[in-house]
Amino acid sequence: REFGKFGPLIGAVDEGTSNVKFLVFAANTSEVLTYHQITLKRFSPQEGWVEQDALEILNAVLECIEVTTDNLRKLDINPEDVVGIGITNQRETTIVWNSVTGQPLYSAIVWLDVRTANIVDELTKVKSPQCVNAVTQTSGLPLSTYFSSVKLKWLLLNVPAVKDAVRVGECMAGTVDSWLIWNLTGGCNGGTHVTDVTNASRTQLMSLRSLQWDIGLLRFFDIPIQILPKIKSSAEIYGYISTGSLLGVPIAGCLGDQQAALVGQGCMRFGQVKCTFGTGCFLLYNTGDSIIHSQQGLLTTVAYKLGPDAPPVYALEGSVAIAGDTLQWLRDGLELITDIQDTEALASEVNDDDEGSICFVPAFNGLYSPYWRKDARGIICGISEKTRREHIVRAALESVCHQTRSVATAMATDCAPLGRLLADGGMAQNTLLMQMQADILGIPVIRPLMMESTALGAAIVAGRALRVWPTSTPCPPADTFIPTISSEERDIKRVRWEKALKRCLAWTT
Ligand code: G3P
Repeated sequence: REFGKFGPLIGAVDEGTSNVKFLVFAANTSEVLTYHQITLKRFSPQEGWVEQDALEILNAVLECIEVTTDNLRKLDINPEDVVGIGITNQRETTIVWNSVTGQPLYSAIVWLDVRTANIVDELTKVKSPQCVNAVTQTSGLPLSTYFSSVKLKWLLLNVPAVKDAVRVGECMAGTVDSWLIWNLTGGCNGGTHVTDVTNASRTQLMSLRSLQWDIGLLRFFDIPIQILPKIKSSAEIYGYISTGSLLGVPIAGCLGDQQAALVGQGCMRFGQVKCTFGTGCFLLYNTGDSIIHSQQGLLTTVAYKLGPDAPPVYALEGSVAIAGDTLQWLRDGLELITDIQDTEALASEVNDDDEGSICFVPAFNGLYSPYWRKDARGIICGISEKTRREHIVRAALESVCHQTRSVATAMATDCAPLGRLLADGGMAQNTLLMQMQADILGIPVIRPLMMESTALGAAIVAGRALRVWPTSTPCPPADTFIPTISSEERDIKRVRWEKALKRCLAWTT
């Protein structure tokens, strides 16, 4: 068929922890033509609990699609040129709903939530070490509050509506991608209940080898298989949009958001690494067709599978729970700043070796890679009467860089030292942060000018499934940040950070 001047277009739903976006890309050039974004609310009914409203997430996606298609019309671009969409989403966040009414049976339990700490302790106590080890070998993931397995177990044990729905065969469960695809393709009127391999690999219920739900894992966590979605590849048609301006458009791609950023950054070869600075901060190292089990506290995960018959590609991942969230806490919790955009200017006013400088470890709900300490809590060390809010802001930025360095060091030990780091995500807009990151890692940090790598990854897989996305794209323009400090200065900063980290880890012991 004939297309307008931009050729075929691909839409991308980017459902992150903090925001939902819908972007439209020109498949031929990867150019973003227009987008719309909505901020999501988070609730914390008890300490350590983090919830979102599954209907709010869905409605935000639907609204973003409508506003963006409206923008297209205003730009004189025909929305009918959108030939498909891809979906990318915050991973692990778990939703259960009633298949007959379509209503959620509980709030979405967000990946950051630590209500399952007791379940993790109990499983560690009652199961044999061999059994616990087998879970990690099969799923690539350690026992932790982070993954969907224990969240689903909590829901099945604690929410009567969930138990009832399971009993009568009306319970559906899934990560956010499943919830969205089911609703967008018709919901209780024939929606498809599916997920992709990358999201499934974060539930801790899928075998990395078979790419299917694993009977041993389901037994370990006591999860009934019939409530789970069907596992598909990351690039194929899952169904067609059943409502709104994109009625009839195929949903043809799906990736967890960190895997999507890996694809969007073009890290398709062994050894290529990206880091997305979002709510948390996630480094993924492409390990090709090898399933590498980390000795250093990294996760093994599926990176992508570009079609039903394509081979899976794997990655090692270092997950840092709190990155951009530190700045949100400075704004909403401490009310120290009014706008996150101001952090760059504020932090630039002071130096790390000032008298008032401090060290900050934001372990709000424990620490993920490479420490896996759910009992750790945040700490600010070294406060003096010279400490000003600028020092706190600077230390918050520095905490992200040091946590990234811990993961990079683990990757170097498991695989090979990183030669450079490809950065993206909302927080990567902060140029000072990028420079600090290069200084603390001692390697160049590369930031593409088009920073929507996550959405781009989702668009690429959908575009490939529909055969409208070119197989090779030119290297996108980027900013490069070269380290500017000596290795002695780098070591001094690191020793300071490690002292604070030790105190943070000792807090509860
Ligand atoms: O594993 C959690 C991750 O997918 C969340 O990503 O971008 O919302 O920080 P983000």
